[in-house]
Amino acid sequence: MLHFDGKVALITGAGRGLGRAHALLLASRGARVVVNDLGTSGAGTGADASPAQSVVDEIRAAGGEAVVNGDSVVDGGRIVEAALDHFGRIDLVVNNAGFLRDVAFHKMTAADWDDLYQVHLLGAFRIVHAAWPRMREQGYGRVVNTSSAAGIYGNFGQVNYGSFKLALHGMTQPLAVEGKAKNIHVNTIAPAADSRLTRTVMTAEQLAPMRAELVSPLVAWLCHETCTETGGLFEVGGGFIAKLRWERSGGAYLDLTGGNAVEQVAEAWGTITDFSKCDHPAGFGEAMAPFVKLMGGA
Ligand SMILES: NC(=O)c1ccc[n+]([C@@H]2O[C@H](COP(=O)([O-])OP(=O)(O)OC[C@H]3O[C@@H](n4cnc5c(N)ncnc54)[C@H](O)[C@@H]3O)[C@@H](O)[C@H]2O)c1
Repeated sequence: MLHFDGKVALITGAGRGLGRAHALLLASRGARVVVNDLGTSGAGTGADASPAQSVVDEIRAAGGEAVVNGDSVVDGGRIVEAALDHFGRIDLVVNNAGFLRDVAFHKMTAADWDDLYQVHLLGAFRIVHAAWPRMREQGYGRVVNTSSAAGIYGNFGQVNYGSFKLALHGMTQPLAVEGKAKNIHVNTIAPAADSRLTRTVMTAEQLAPMRAELVSPLVAWLCHETCTETGGLFEVGGGFIAKLRWERSGGAYLDLTGGNAVEQVAEAWGTITDFSKCDHPAGFGEAMAPFVKLMGGA
C-alpha cells in the first residue's frame, strides 16, 4: 500500500466535490491534511465555514489528522503559514479551489474575468509561491494543479474559466523544470466528475459513474514520493486516466524572404497542417530543434 505518513498536504477547495475526495483519500493513507475551503456558492460568492469543518470532522472520526482553514486562496500565503504553524511543514499541495461564471464572451463583464483569475490562477500562484521555499529546503514537494477540458479544448461560455484553467498547466510546465533538481514534482489534472458544478449541465443520473472519489487515486499517486512523473497533464474521471502531450506536424521550411511570402504560406498550408508526419517535443530543448537547425546547429 502507498502511504503518506509524515507528509502534510494542503488541499484547496476541499470542503466538497473533488477537493473533499482528495482530502479523505490522502488522510486515509496517513497524510496530515489542511482542509482549505472558503465555502462559496458555485459562482464563487459568499462564504461558509461548515463544509470544510465537516470534512475535517469526517477525517478525524476515521482516525486521521486534519485541520480546517477558511481563507480564500487569494490569501494563499496565509494558508501556507497556517499549515506551517499547525504541522510545521508542507509537502503536498493540490490546487483545486474554483468556481464557474459561464457567460458568452460578448456578455462577460470585467468582474467575470477578474474574479476567475483571482481564484483559479492568482490563488494557485500564491499558494505555490509560499510553499516553494519550504519544498526546496526539504528537497521534496508535490504539486497538483487542477485544469479543465474547457481550457484544453475550448468550450462555449468559458473564456474566463478556460483561460485560467489552461494557464495553470502553463504554470505547471516551467515549475516542473525548476523543481526537478530539488525533487519537487508538479503535474496537472483535467478532471471530469459529478459535483455541483457539473450538475448545472448534466443530470445526477448521467453523472452517477463519475464519482469524485474516482479522480483522487491519480492525485494521490502524483503526490507520492515514489512517483517520478513531473510536468504532465492528465485527463481523469470515472476510472479513465490518460496522459496528454503536444503534437507538432512535420511542418514546412519556406523561403519567406521574397515578395511572395504570404502566397508561399498559403500554398504550403496542407503540409503545415499535415500530422501524418509529426513529433512530440517533450521539452523546451526538443521544441527548439527546428530553429536550432535553421541557426546551423548553434
Ligand atoms: N467537476 C468537474 O467535472 C470538473 C471538471 C474540470 C475542472 N474541475 C475543477 O475542479 C475543481 C473542483 O471542482 P468541483 O467540481 O469539485 O467543484 P465544487 O464546487 O464542488 O468544489 C469547489 C470548492 O472550491 C471552493 N472555493 C471556491 N472559491 C474558493 C476560494 N477563493 N478559496 C477557497 N476555496 C474556494 C468552494 O467553496 C468549493 O467547496 C475546480 O477547480 C474545478 O474548476 C472540475
